[in-house]
Amino acid sequence: MTKILVVNGPNLDLLGKRETEIYGEDTIDTINNEIKKIAKEEGVEIDCYQSNHEGDIVDKINGTDAVGILINPAAYTHTSVAIHDALRAKKIPSVEVHLSNIQAREEFRHKSLISPVVTGQVSGFGKNSYVLGLKALIQTIRNNRM
Ligand code: DQA
Repeated sequence: MTKILVVNGPNLDLLGKRETEIYGEDTIDTINNEIKKIAKEEGVEIDCYQSNHEGDIVDKINGTDAVGILINPAAYTHTSVAIHDALRAKKIPSVEVHLSNIQAREEFRHKSLISPVVTGQVSGFGKNSYVLGLKALIQTIRNNRM
């Protein structure tokens, strides 16, 4: 079965408690459950991973046998050359997602080091960013195989 890796970066384990006016009330579990439902409908398997540690995220990307990656790198979006390099080396379709619209926030969030090495980005739709991103990723994987 097609396998997709879902990566959530630092502090996303606090969703539902953390700055709910920006990130909403959904927890990481409600988001994961929602995208697992969609994956099931699409006949895709997903492996959900969250870490607060940059090197662990790099190891997970390097070691996965998934054929696509959905990633919210969180704060590492704006700083991580290591995650940029890991995604670039992996050479599989990937989608960057953000709950908030990073372009509408502080200037330091406007720059993503991840965007240049992913297939596309979905930002600003809360939990729906993951839903839309997953659907786009599945379509990209299918189109690449045709
Ligand atoms: C975020 C945006 C980042 O700037 C921030 O550091 C996060 C979450 C988002 O989903 O909106 O932790 O990736």
